[in-house]
Amino acid sequence: MQYNSTYNIHNASLGLQTEIERLKVQALMGWDKEFRNLKWYGLENGMSVVELGSGPGFLTQQLVNSLPDSLITALEIEKTLLDKAQNMLNHIPEDRLRFVQSSIYETRLPDESFDFAIVRLLFLHLHNPMQAAQEIFRVLKPGGKLVIIDIDDGIFGAVNPDVQALPTVLKKIADHQATKGGNRYIGRSLPRLLTNAGYTDVDIDAVIQHSDIHGIEGFKLQFDINRFVGFFNNGLINQEEFDQLKSASEKISNSPDAYAMMTFVMAHGKKPEI
Ligand SMILES: C[S@@+](CC[C@H](N)C(=O)[O-])C[C@H]1O[C@@H](n2cnc3c(N)ncnc32)[C@H](O)[C@@H]1O
Repeated sequence: MQYNSTYNIHNASLGLQTEIERLKVQALMGWDKEFRNLKWYGLENGMSVVELGSGPGFLTQQLVNSLPDSLITALEIEKTLLDKAQNMLNHIPEDRLRFVQSSIYETRLPDESFDFAIVRLLFLHLHNPMQAAQEIFRVLKPGGKLVIIDIDDGIFGAVNPDVQALPTVLKKIADHQATKGGNRYIGRSLPRLLTNAGYTDVDIDAVIQHSDIHGIEGFKLQFDINRFVGFFNNGLINQEEFDQLKSASEKISNSPDAYAMMTFVMAHGKKPEI
């Protein structure tokens, strides 16, 4: 199976359990707004939906609850995460939810079998996003739609109090991830990627998660200093940058004056009708 991505839960700097918790709060925090946009892009109850890179299943759970007449297919490469999602959702009948262990590059799903595909926070990690977009094109029915929910560190967001070193740190981390085959600036390239993969009706929008609206809890793990310790230890970020991040992390965890927002892009493409 082709992993070919920079995300492997077993290498997460926070450790397996805390990383799963981080994914959980991140998925749940933005769900209402993301679902609003998914519906606006054409997602409807009753459609057959595939979610690729479904991880521990928190978005899957929202899809199952929000689309009571749909069959949801959750595709994930990593067995540990697939097992976790399956255990959490084992009460959902098979005609509503099925799990597939497979790669986004070669899903082994049948041609033209889905009305709607959703990929959240995986494209930034892919060595070959075009191959993934084309594989999803293959499994979509004519007229079927793909929505990619992802990030672009150029419009990452903001924190208050401001962290002066944040743009530099984000750039260093993005450059480092690029050497491994990922792209933390993927957001800006998604319209072009979708067009080149054959999709029409290409569009892009954004949702913003703000701690005053969604609660500060979800931001604490994003700014957990342990996420940056490895970059400090291997010399990618310097002492001053690390100290600023540490201070921001403490303020976000403890100060009622702190607030933050993060931007997620949502890009849409449609497989042409025949
Ligand atoms: C950052 S997590 C996002 C999980 C989930 N989509 C969410 O929004 O919470 C990326 C997920 O993609 C999975 N993944 C990585 N490479 C993959 C591949 N080649 N094919 C399918 N899934 C992959 C990872 O195991 C992980 O579950």
